[in-house]
Amino acid sequence: MTMKHIFKEGSSKDAPLLLLLHGTGGTEQDLLGLAEMISPESSVLSVRGNVLENGMPRFFRRLAEGVFDEEDLVLRTEELYGFLDSASKGYGFERSNIVAVGYSNGANIAGSLLFHYENPLKGAILHHPMVPRRGIVLPDMAGLPVFIGAGSNDPICPPQETEELALLLKNSGAQVDMHWEQFGHQLTRSEAEAAAVWFHKIF
Ligand code: MLT
Repeated sequence: MTMKHIFKEGSSKDAPLLLLLHGTGGTEQDLLGLAEMISPESSVLSVRGNVLENGMPRFFRRLAEGVFDEEDLVLRTEELYGFLDSASKGYGFERSNIVAVGYSNGANIAGSLLFHYENPLKGAILHHPMVPRRGIVLPDMAGLPVFIGAGSNDPICPPQETEELALLLKNSGAQVDMHWEQFGHQLTRSEAEAAAVWFHKIF
């Protein structure tokens, strides 16, 4: 199934393509400014989630706040993975040069890509992510750079869950950098700036 999206060709062929994944109720427009802050020369693929919850776009269904529909999560992760393959062929960008930038529900589907596939991404910027799924064996993530932006007072993703996610990623070999803020579930300008600094350090 195709996914509604925006593709913008960047001025640099070498800079990683930024895959933008919005939060619940968002669209493919939301994170374009964030991409501009992180890597203005990168190509951008900004995708809209195919699930609707009371009219709000999401990347997978949930049964309740913070309780994910695992079957749908797995299917939707496969859908996004397949879309990345076909978009890279269609638009002619390198499949192995994608860095995800996700916020909230978008960070959770990016995390789910990492949990379910071998090398799905070159790196990931996860703003306020949760643990997408528990009780599965994770792929080898040796050296995978991951930035996590979190809120020490985030009511949707408590700090213990952020730490749990970081540990799961690290135990699979990922190289995780954490950035903490105190503005609940909000993606603040200073968190976005920290992500940009991290991106330029790594790539
Ligand atoms: C989710 O459902 O993915 C998380 O609760 C974050 C959100 O509210 O979108």
